[in-house]
Amino acid sequence: ESTVPTPQWRPVYHFTPAKNWTNDPNGLIYLDGVYHLYYQHNPFENKWGHMSWGHATSTDLVNWKHLPVAIPELETRDTTTWIFSGSAVLDQHNSSGFGKNGKAPIVAIYTADQPKQQKESQFIAYSNDGGLTYTNYANNPVVDIHKKDFRDPSVIWLEDQHKWLMTVAVPAEHKVQFYGSVNLKDWELLSEFGPQGDARKIWECPSLTPLYVDGNPAKKKWLLMVSSGNQDAATGMQYFIGDFDGKTFTNGHTPETQLFVDYGKTFYAAIPYNHLPANRQMMIGWLMPFETATWPWRGQMSIPRDLQLKTTSAGIRLFQQPAAVLNGYLDKLPAAKKWQQRNVSLNSKVLSISNGRQFNTNANWIDATFTLGTASDFGVKVAQHSSGSGVVVGYNVQRQELYINDGKDTQHMPVQPVNGKIRLQVLLDKSSLEVFVNDGEKVMTTLIFPAKDATGCAAFAENGGVQLNTLKVWNMDK
Ligand code: FRU
Repeated sequence: ESTVPTPQWRPVYHFTPAKNWTNDPNGLIYLDGVYHLYYQHNPFENKWGHMSWGHATSTDLVNWKHLPVAIPELETRDTTTWIFSGSAVLDQHNSSGFGKNGKAPIVAIYTADQPKQQKESQFIAYSNDGGLTYTNYANNPVVDIHKKDFRDPSVIWLEDQHKWLMTVAVPAEHKVQFYGSVNLKDWELLSEFGPQGDARKIWECPSLTPLYVDGNPAKKKWLLMVSSGNQDAATGMQYFIGDFDGKTFTNGHTPETQLFVDYGKTFYAAIPYNHLPANRQMMIGWLMPFETATWPWRGQMSIPRDLQLKTTSAGIRLFQQPAAVLNGYLDKLPAAKKWQQRNVSLNSKVLSISNGRQFNTNANWIDATFTLGTASDFGVKVAQHSSGSGVVVGYNVQRQELYINDGKDTQHMPVQPVNGKIRLQVLLDKSSLEVFVNDGEKVMTTLIFPAKDATGCAAFAENGGVQLNTLKVWNMDK
């Protein structure tokens, strides 16, 4: 475990714990104008272990306030209980009876991982202080199927049925189970789903979310996300779009169809927010810190992403966009932190963004739309060193592929131009790089670890020309 401080890789507009390890986001819930983020946390070390729920809140999704651990690990004489991933709900009707003084309690539903018993089961805990501290329910577990691997409950309220729905994974069997409850304490198995899609790796962190296709209330579909697979990477997430009748999820695709949430190496364990205003759905994922160590923290969250289902020529697909809430933050930045260009012809050349403009911070938000021309490749370069090395976010016209080349390795994904155009939203935050293509039809997320003086950025076209229709850049450094 390296203890060399790495402030140059500490993100400024993405969440990281002040110190020590994080993995999955947990219990994402929006209450009274505040976004709560709980997260898998080791409060003692900069590596996985002692799993507890860390806690932070934000009103703008950029600045996070660090709060004390909300649910610590439990240690008794012969049992260690680690607080694994799960969700949080506002129990508005006090169905659980945990409420006090007429105020709705917040209920956390999480996996108790008990390594000594080789068991995972679902526990609940409640908060009557706005989510700061939780009391474990006396009669835990609330769901137990006597398995070593059974985890990551995601609970939502089904308004039309007036009941709670839990989606939970049986990892080794590549299955999710659905349970129903009227009081969050007694759960009844409704149905199972899987294996379908990509079943090469264990299934974790499932969630089921209703969404309107193309924003049309008459066209409601259900998005089932599962952390498990991605064609090329060690980890990843897949999704299914289908129907849910209150009991059973029916996949709208053939069982073999594989659809991926993110094509990069690091995006994992994302779950949606609970209790957002009507018809808004937003998720946060974990960026898995492979390879290079950071210190004194390790692991970070993705940018919060708005979720939409849209009809494309290939069928209904999941689209992701950096949360619209963040536009408020971008708009308020001072003029010196913004730069815009329109209708620039780029012919086998580079248009520097950073030169002389103090954009060389490696905390850049870049939004560029290109019209294809004769160029073989075009896109954006970031974390450039004066020697010419750096990270290329490029589109290859012939292969119809978006790629990220960090100098060591190339990741790529298939993308078709839309009306002859490619839009790239490139969010670089010191060591994380999220690329949304064509309004978020495809997303690729990775981590990069640039040298301290590798901070240049530019738009480019190679072997011919493109039209850069718009280029907007924000310097996100604080
Ligand atoms: C996913 C995961 C979850 C589990 C948690 C433990 O990254 O393995 O399945 O609940 O991490 O930290």
